[in-house]
Amino acid sequence: MNSPYDDPELYDALFDALDFDVAFLADVARRAGGPLLDVGCGTGRLLLRLADLGFTVDGWEPSAAMAAQLRKKALAKGLMPRSFVGGVETMPGAPRYGLAFCMFNAFSHNLTYQSQLGLLRRMRACLKDGGRIAIGAGHPPFADWARPPVEPVLEHEVEWPERDCHLRLFDARTLDPIALLQHSRITVLQVGRDGSLIRRHDSETTIRWIFQPEFELLLHAAGFADWRITGGYSGEPRTSDSQPLVVEAW
Ligand SMILES: C[S@@+](CC[C@H](N)C(=O)[O-])C[C@H]1O[C@@H](n2cnc3c(N)ncnc32)[C@H](O)[C@@H]1O
Repeated sequence: MNSPYDDPELYDALFDALDFDVAFLADVARRAGGPLLDVGCGTGRLLLRLADLGFTVDGWEPSAAMAAQLRKKALAKGLMPRSFVGGVETMPGAPRYGLAFCMFNAFSHNLTYQSQLGLLRRMRACLKDGGRIAIGAGHPPFADWARPPVEPVLEHEVEWPERDCHLRLFDARTLDPIALLQHSRITVLQVGRDGSLIRRHDSETTIRWIFQPEFELLLHAAGFADWRITGGYSGEPRTSDSQPLVVEAW
């Protein structure tokens, strides 16, 4: 079965316009200083916006297709960011960066505590003195664990003007509350102006949700001295299980 990252053009049509975390990251980056490393950078949603703001940003990305789309978009802007593609061992290991960040649930693709810890240790190792990391993640609210949605959830809807159509993303999920895994069967419907179905795109992915106390334990085990976890990208306190986990650690 396809992964949602096998079709980067469709991925960008769905998600590239999202900018909910840009001001937060720009603020952390200004405090931390560059250069920056975007961990699980995808097609460069954040990398290219931060480059536009004047930061030097490298990217690490496991999917060759996503990284190729990033390079294409960067070249069109006259940019040539350094990108590292492959398994976690291909991520730069030398202490070079002021900030390493991993956003939009990329961290949740680590399905075991060993790979979570491996990524956090790698992120820590690539920081120069005084550097920090930022992670944006989350988990479904507790009500969903007790009563998982039985019908596919309409998760996202967006226009695709270049193709003169509309995209609707449905996620049919199963939740495993023991292993904290979510398996998603994703269907994107590409719908014409007249409401007719142009194409259906199917993919599957598994992610592991992570809760705040476990995150703190992982940060400690990975060697971070301190951290701040908030419930939003404007620093709001975390008071509800439906808020994201916005993590800064140093
Ligand atoms: C939802 S996309 C987010 C992309 C980008 N971080 C952003 O904010 O737009 C998740 C990305 O995580 C990448 N990824 C896959 N496995 C990963 C892992 N083990 N650790 C970090 N990222 C991973 C995927 O290839 C994909 O590009």
